Amino acid sequence: MEGLVHEIEIRRAKRALSEKKIAHEVLKRIMTAATYAPSCFNNQPWRFVVVDEKSSLEAIHESLAGGNYWVKKAPAVVIVATKPELDARLSDRREYALLGCGLAAENLMLQAFQEGLFAHAIAGFDPLVVKAKLRVPEDYIVITLIALGYPGDESHLSEKHRSLEHSPRERKPESEVISWNAWSFRESE
Ligand SMILES: Cc1cc2nc3c(=O)[nH]c(=O)nc-3n(C[C@H](O)[C@H](O)[C@H](O)COP(=O)(O)O)c2cc1C
Repeated sequence: MEGLVHEIEIRRAKRALSEKKIAHEVLKRIMTAATYAPSCFNNQPWRFVVVDEKSSLEAIHESLAGGNYWVKKAPAVVIVATKPELDARLSDRREYALLGCGLAAENLMLQAFQEGLFAHAIAGFDPLVVKAKLRVPEDYIVITLIALGYPGDESHLSEKHRSLEHSPRERKPESEVISWNAWSFRESE
């Protein structure tokens, strides 16, 4: 769509990652971009663990769900963790820690695309394995892992994933998720 921020337009959840190392300065810039996200009362509830060494990456690999085999090619993976106590907890179930992490994760991904990388958030991992192997305290929520890597070849991808690499962006009709001036969604949606 015309007029969108370029990185928003080009960001896709791609899986064909190259094993090429990512320079430390690039990783540092991506992480700084993550921390520039807004947060409630500037609480900055996010905690990131940047994993780019072999033994720590191997620990991440052990945590992956089968369908996320492609993350094993990533030269860096960022653990995004928080706990509710790190941010505001307001009326009507408003727990801001997870929202803050979401905003930071998106900043991280957009900066990564600006650097010529792919960045792909995943939920398919065992958080208990990540915590145990990489010393994340038990009371934290490991909300997502973000795989980072330069574009690579697709030969190691499953047929399904290979076709998804080139699929058009799929979204619900905007009328299902955007209403104007007052709530007009039907409850069943
Ligand atoms: C929190 C979160 C968890 C996700 N988990 C996975 C995952 O475990 N495996 C995977 O292949 N993709 C995962 N994705 C990618 C989504 O499937 C993808 O973003 C969505 O299909 C929309 O496609 P697009 O990002 O290319 O627009 C995840 C994305 C997010 C934000």
